[in-house]
Amino acid sequence: MTNAKKFQKVMLVGDGAVGSAYAYAMMQQGLAEELVIVDVVKERTEGDALDLEDAQVFTAPKNVYSGEYSDATDADLVVITAGAPQKPGETRLDLVNKNLKILSTIVKPIVDSGFDGIFLVAANPVDILTYATWKFSGFPKNKVIGSGTSLDTSRLRVALAKKLSVDPRSVEAYIMGEHGDSEFAAYDEATIGSKPLRAIAKENGISDDELLKIEDETRHKAYEIINRKGATYYGVATALMRISKAILRNENAVLPVGAPLDGEYGLSDVFIGTPAIINADGIASVVEVPLSDNEKAQMAASAETLKKVTKDGMD
Ligand code: NAD
Ligand code: LAC
Repeated sequence: MTNAKKFQKVMLVGDGAVGSAYAYAMMQQGLAEELVIVDVVKERTEGDALDLEDAQVFTAPKNVYSGEYSDATDADLVVITAGAPQKPGETRLDLVNKNLKILSTIVKPIVDSGFDGIFLVAANPVDILTYATWKFSGFPKNKVIGSGTSLDTSRLRVALAKKLSVDPRSVEAYIMGEHGDSEFAAYDEATIGSKPLRAIAKENGISDDELLKIEDETRHKAYEIINRKGATYYGVATALMRISKAILRNENAVLPVGAPLDGEYGLSDVFIGTPAIINADGIASVVEVPLSDNEKAQMAASAETLKKVTKDGMD
């Protein structure tokens, strides 16, 4: 680790459905010794801290408390889940104005605290809010990570695993691009046990149209969940936990995240879903997937969508 501190500290900003599920997952996994929770609704963070500390006897000791942005001064990681969620019928991009406004009140006081760790952003539209966190913070790009297409990639792997009767952890397939309606499945490079997914699909009688249907269902799964229960939170909280672990344990893990591009895929000035190597310094490097021409065009179109909304939202 680059940090010489003897314990690890995480600040969670936003104690709603996603934030509280993340806090609970942290308690369960015994990750980081200190968790400080901040939200505009102080009673909620105080209540959650009291409730969560009761879990430590069954997991691992942890100092969990309701705090202020100044507490970020010695944090290793700040996770931002504060922001309005989609209502049924809304897209993630519809949230851009209100959530940029909320984000602008969060990042500055955290930076003013002397915080020098990693920002991990989940609030939507996540790719744009990650870009904005980088801009508002003045941090180097590698120290700002978005949850990007981590959740979508998990959704794709689960769907393919069900079809092919394999463990989803054995499916190496990525959703790339925007965490949203312009994302795509990078099927042309996907493998299971080193064997091309398209070949395996063919052997199992799964047509290209069926693969496209799985991609489409993955793209729309959040809407299906929101229509039924109003919000999604367990999946993303666990994805955030996985990324947090890669940072706090300095893993150099290859994970799908929202990463800044600097020439990869012929693109730059955008944070977007791609595999990247994650360690204690944040994004060690982007893993540039050797996309087919068709997929490269989809990546470019998705980046264009994000750039347009970023420009409109931040002007
Ligand atoms: P929620 O309404 O349950 O929680 C949001 C929390 O943010 C609330 O506790 C609220 O008080 C707090 N908040 C609002 N303004 C704040 C401010 N200025 N400072 C501090 N806290 C503030 O919403 P949720 O379901 O937890 O979703 C949170 C965000 O995460 C949404 O934007 C949602 O779209 C997004 N999300 C992202 C993913 C992903 O994969 N990246 C998945 C699910 C949800
Ligand atoms: C998701 C959120 C809504 O579950 O972005 O994909």
